Parts: sequence; C-alpha cells; structure tokens
Amino acid sequence: MSKIIIQPGQLGPKKEKQSISISELYHENTKLQPSLPIEMIATGNYEEAEILAMARGYKKYRLSPRIKLPEIENLLPSASTFDEVVASRRSVRDFSEEELSLSELSKVLHQSYGITGEIKRPDGGTIPLRSAPSGGALYPAEIYLGIRNVSEVEPGIYHYNVPDHALELLIPGDPTERLYEVCCQQEYVKEASVVFLISGVLQRTKRKYGERGYRYVLLDVGHLGQNIYLSCTSLSLAIMTTCGFYDDEANKLLRVDGIDETTLYVAFVGKKKEAMDHPPTSFL
Ligand SMILES: Cc1cc2nc3c(=O)[nH]c(=O)nc-3n(C[C@H](O)[C@H](O)[C@H](O)COP(=O)(O)O)c2cc1C
Repeated sequence: MSKIIIQPGQLGPKKEKQSISISELYHENTKLQPSLPIEMIATGNYEEAEILAMARGYKKYRLSPRIKLPEIENLLPSASTFDEVVASRRSVRDFSEEELSLSELSKVLHQSYGITGEIKRPDGGTIPLRSAPSGGALYPAEIYLGIRNVSEVEPGIYHYNVPDHALELLIPGDPTERLYEVCCQQEYVKEASVVFLISGVLQRTKRKYGERGYRYVLLDVGHLGQNIYLSCTSLSLAIMTTCGFYDDEANKLLRVDGIDETTLYVAFVGKKKEAMDHPPTSFL
C-alpha cells in the first residue's frame, strides 16, 4: 500500500491527462487490489497486549477538573420514532438564546460516540463498542466542546471523556471569540450553545491499515457526525456542520499537533428558535 503507483505530473496507468491532483494520487495509491499481499491490506499479527492497547482508543485528561454527565439510563427516551427523526433531519441555522441542558448534551454525546456495548476477548475481558461504527473498532475520533451556554457548566473548552462519560475542562472562560476566529468568523459561533470540534488521532487507525487508514478515519468521523445530527433532531435541537474552520488555529486551540491528531469536523449545536419559517440561507 505504501508503493507509489503514480507520481504527480506523470501519466497514470488509467489516465489520459497530464497532471494528477494530490487527492487522485492519494486515492490511487490507497486502493485495495487483488494483487496486493494480504499483510499490505491490514497488519493482522498483534500480540495480546497490543490488541488491548488498541482497544483503549480514547484520551483522558486525568488532571483536568471534570463534570460527570447525567447517566443515560436516567434520561427520558425520545418521543420521536426513528422514521420521524430521519425524515425531519435538517441543518438548522437558527439558534435560540435559551441554554442547552446538561442532560441534552449528555444524550447527544452518548448517542454520538458513547459506549453502547462490548465484545468478549479470548482472555475473558471485554472490548467496548460505541454508538458509531468504526473501522477495526479503533475509534480514532476525539470530541472537544466549546461550551458557551449549557446549564450547570461554566463556559470553556472541554474534552469528552468517553469511558467515564464526563467532561474534562481544558481551558476555562468564554471560548466565543477564539472560536469565532477559528471558524472563519461565522456568526453561528456566537449563537450556538456548544461548538463541537472533532479530531482524528490518525495513528489509531493507520497503524493497522496503513495509508488507506486515513480514509477510514474520515469515514468514521462522518458516521459520528451523522449520529450528532440524528441525536439533535430527535431532541428537537438545532445543528449544522461546517468545513469552514482554520485547521491549524483549531489545532492550536485544542493543543493538538495537527499531524498525529488533527481537527476534522466542526458542528454548532443549540436550542432551536421557535419560529423557523425561512429556508437556510448559507451554504458555505
Ligand atoms: C461536510 C459538510 C460541510 C458543511 N458545511 C456547511 C457550512 O459551512 N455552512 C452551512 O451553512 N452548511 C454546511 N453544511 C450543511 C449543508 O449545507 C447541508 O447539509 C445541505 O445543504 C443539505 O441540507 P440538510 O442538511 O438540511 O439536509 C455542510 C454539510 C456537510 C456534510
């Protein structure tokens, strides 16, 4: 998989044109081919200890102040059916000033990337499984939250600690101005209660799948993003996602290096404005 098949500017085997874009080059070089030896498709021979380490795909900020999120069993079930949720899912860009409740945030996080099951290991232990599917169950994503307006939570930048279902405070204080700059001065930052920033820890997946694993990280984050959308829809919350963010400014804010771990996805979440009588206006 690491063998370069086409060089930039060269004619590829199936190409007519003279120049090849970076994405074409990458895609071509990460295609599975029947001719590839199986060990190039996925590295499979791991020691037990390595499998265990890989199954612990999450970060914990052990020294940060933390807020335990309300347990999911204690939250009310959604009144909407799955059919209704799918049919009504929309990007909603009208946020109310009403604060989001901690229970709502807890539910969205759990339904997006929380632990929902487990599989047994041969040694009798378990490997946790999440609400989003993940290539190799490696869970490369981390969720950070710019919290502005959530009940019982001081504004700040937080990290979602998945196994403990808790928020960890990384940077105290109102994050609005920093996030406004990070998100290309989009006004939604000033209106939404929470800005979700999702990163990918690329080696969690690339270690097993090589360069092709980068594709899987993006696919994983897409699944996670759709879960956020569906969860918000079932709670009648407003959500919209954006690709409009300055990558390295986001990485700097989250204190990640932009190489091993890098910001991939941003979404704005809040209560909906009651009267949403006009169609969306921005499609940045
Ligand atoms: C990867 C991605 C990036 C998006 N970026 C933006 C954005 O920057 N601004 C915006 O208003 N909507 C953005 N959207 C929302 C799309 O405009 C929206 O999904 C599309 O118009 C379909 O509408 P719906 O989500 O209401 O069904 C984005 C959606 C995706 C999946």
